[in-house]
Parts: sequence; structure tokens; C-alpha cells
Amino acid sequence: MAYFSDKLAFITGGSSGIGLATANLLASQGCNLVLFARGQKMLDEACKMIKRTMDNSSQSVNTVSIDVANNDDVQRKIKAAVKEFGVPDILINSAGIGTGDYFENISYEQFDRLMKINVYGTRNIVSAILPFLKQKGGGHIVNISSVAGLIGMFGYSLYCTSKYAIVGFSECLRSELKRFNIAVTLVCPPEVKTPFIEEEAKTLPPEARVVKNLAGLMTPEQAARAIVRGIKKKKFLVVPGITAKSLLFWHRISNGFFTRYPADWIIKLASRRSVK
Ligand SMILES: NC(=O)c1ccc[n+]([C@@H]2O[C@H](COP(=O)([O-])OP(=O)(O)OC[C@H]3O[C@@H](n4cnc5c(N)ncnc54)[C@H](OP(=O)(O)O)[C@@H]3O)[C@@H](O)[C@H]2O)c1
Repeated sequence: MAYFSDKLAFITGGSSGIGLATANLLASQGCNLVLFARGQKMLDEACKMIKRTMDNSSQSVNTVSIDVANNDDVQRKIKAAVKEFGVPDILINSAGIGTGDYFENISYEQFDRLMKINVYGTRNIVSAILPFLKQKGGGHIVNISSVAGLIGMFGYSLYCTSKYAIVGFSECLRSELKRFNIAVTLVCPPEVKTPFIEEEAKTLPPEARVVKNLAGLMTPEQAARAIVRGIKKKKFLVVPGITAKSLLFWHRISNGFFTRYPADWIIKLASRRSVK
């Protein structure tokens, strides 16, 4: 029997980008799904699209409109979703927003809002699901961080802060939840072609753009394949893409020397060009 047949996955951010591509791939492998996001219209469209890839009529895909940043909303709606659809085998935390700008342009309110979604949002969902996974005797939590959660980058003081937090959170969860038979996977993708990067591009400094190119660009489908492979193998760290993997390798073995200095040099060139 296929690994995902008859399993149930809850996916936050399941209406777009990486979450949606992962949902689609899991559906094609027999998984039942519940997708969570704020916008019901996009959830309905995602649901329709996924139904077309499901070849088993007994498979299900449902949606719940939720704001992961609102803890009361999360606790109430996760409880209701578990009651209606069952305890998930897999939870994928993909809901998130991005921004790239010079630190001095980022207001306290912007900082607060992004942290509430990217960090507290993941925390809120995990805290709501955990009692059910423990009761069930196991499960798998997948947190989507970023290469920006492993390497600090120009223009990403806010986004990197949120994604580094997800790395720390996931490391601790992995260690604490092993005794309950709950696996944790941390996913650190490079740039992925989704609506997220269109939004981010509105304020992204030119220096950040050139540095970002070093980690590579991939499609949501490529990222989803790496995520699904990682879940099957119960890997802790998944870094999709060979460019991102090698960047991380050089960063780690040189304690940042091979990434910081070339990046500083590229940023200097880019700044000169943008001044001209
Ligand atoms: N794209 C990249 O380059 C990239 C690279 C590395 C990591 N990531 C990470 O991958 C994850 C998914 O990003 P993506 O590129 O797939 O972005 P995306 O296409 O913009 O999708 C984001 C999803 O999150 C949902 N969402 C946003 N805020 C939410 C909230 N407060 N409550 C509930 N749902 C919310 C969105 O739906 P609603 O707006 O309707 O709520 C949407 O379904 C994010 O955590 C991001 O940081 C992205």
C-alpha cells in the first residue's frame, strides 16, 4: 500500500504556493486533506483543483478558513476540524508571509504582524494539534522555514528573524516529541516561484535581489517533491535543490566565511550599480 493512502494531512497555507503544490502531490498519492488559510475563495479553488487529481472517489479534501495568527480562532477551529475530519497523521505548517526591505524602513507594526503570522502562527497550530497527536500515539509535524532561516541575508532582517525562530522551534520540538512518536521535519527552501515572491518584490532592495540569486529558484512542484520525499523518509532537515544544498554546505563548513564575504562583495557591486 502506498505510504500516504488513507492518511490525513492538515495543511496551513494550503490554498497557494508551496502548501498547495504539496497538497496536490499528497492527494495524487492517496492522502486525505484539510486545507487551512484565511481566504475562502482561494481555498475553494484549491479544493476544486485538488479533487481533479484525486483518482480515488473515497478520498476527501476539505477546507477551513482560519487566521493562524489569532490563537483563539486556531484553538477553536482546530478542535472543530479534528471532531469533523479526524486527527491528522501529518500537519504541514506552510502559512506565512514575506517581506524584504532595509531594516530602517520596517515599522514596529510590520515587524509585529509578520512575527504573529510566521512564528506565533506556527506555534498556535502546533499547540492546538499536539494534544490530539499525543492521544493518538504519534504523528508528523512539518514546519516550512527557509534558507533564510539558516543564513542571514541583506534585506531580510524581519523575514530571517521569523524563519530562524522556526528553525529553533523545530529543533526543540523534534527533541521533545520523539518520546511521543511524533516526528518533526524542518523544510528550508530557497526562492520558490509563488505569489509570495511577487508581494515581496514590491519592496525588495536591489542588493537583496542579487544575493538571493545565489541560492537558486525553483517551482512549487519541485519544492513539494522534496517535502513529500522528506516526510516519507522521516528526515529532520529538508533543503530542496542542489544550489541551496551546496550554499548551505559551504556556509557551514566555513562558519559563514564562504558565504558572507562573497555576498558583501556582490552587495558592494550592486549598490554601486543602483546608485548610477
Ligand atoms: N516562496 C518562497 O520563495 C519561499 C521560500 C522559502 C520559504 N517559503 C515559506 O513557504 C511558506 C509558503 O509560502 P508560499 O511561497 O507558498 O506563499 P503563498 O503562495 O503566498 O502562500 C501563502 C499561504 O499562506 C496563507 N496565509 C498567509 N497568512 C495566513 C494567516 N494569517 N493565516 C492563515 N493562512 C495564512 C495564504 O492564504 P491567505 O492569504 O488566504 O490566508 C496562502 O495559502 C511560507 O511560510 C514562506 O515563508 C517561501
